[in-house]
Amino acid sequence: MEAATSYSQKADPPAHIAIIMDGNGRWAKARGLPRIAGHQKGAEVVRETVTHCRELGVACLTLYAFSSENWKRPTAEVDDLMGLLRLYLRRDLIELSRAGVRMRFIGDLRGLPADVIDPLYEAERRTRDNSDLVLTVALNYGGRNEIVQAARKLAEAAAAGRLQVQEIDEQLFASHLDTAGIPDPDLMIRTSGEQRMSNFLLWQSAYTEMVFIPVLWPDFRKSHLEEAIHEFHRRDRRYGASSG
Ligand code: IPE
Ligand code: IPE
Ligand code: MG
Repeated sequence: MEAATSYSQKADPPAHIAIIMDGNGRWAKARGLPRIAGHQKGAEVVRETVTHCRELGVACLTLYAFSSENWKRPTAEVDDLMGLLRLYLRRDLIELSRAGVRMRFIGDLRGLPADVIDPLYEAERRTRDNSDLVLTVALNYGGRNEIVQAARKLAEAAAAGRLQVQEIDEQLFASHLDTAGIPDPDLMIRTSGEQRMSNFLLWQSAYTEMVFIPVLWPDFRKSHLEEAIHEFHRRDRRYGASSG
């Protein structure tokens, strides 16, 4: 059988990869460490994964960093995660910016702590002219909420007479989602062995290929990314048409 690495180097990479980075807590638990240690290691793997995606020529990478349901976790863990985010933005922004990475954030950002929101907008502003890789980070993100917010905006426009109900189609609807302007993901990877969406990109993943990699996120390496891309290339994307 052909090695995953050589295969993925020959074929074009998927233009847009989305990742549900799961398993930080279990990684820490297996080592008798606090959960934050898993999140710290997970943040390092985020940096490496961004680099690998750039090397492989991936145009868009979308990462699920904090879901709208993750507020159910203990306050101490949520605070630790927000602290890591602050640190990451402060430490890596210049490097990401120099590397040609454009940063975007999706999710209900107004629900985040005030001292996190400003650095997020600052990161978007400082990197907006970059085009090597669009890195979208989902924070306080929930797919259902995103859809409801889009419906609300359209309903408001219709009620105010700025929009005819007949004008609402899939394209217009998609342009009111947080991901407006970003193509739908071609490949979605979830680590840790769980096989569910957990409210991620529900609208956008209508025809996304799902690949489940059974390693915990802190153990995710370039070889796993290449394995997922290899699996993606083996899929026959039919979009509802007959098989050839
Ligand atoms: C993913 O790892 C990180 C976040 C959800 C923020 P988890 O913290 O969910 O790790 P497990 O699933 O408990 O192992
Ligand atoms: C999904 O992981 C959210 C992120 C990776 C940020 P969870 O660990 O929160 O998902 P569930 O609870 O196992 O579905
Ligand atoms: Mg989890």
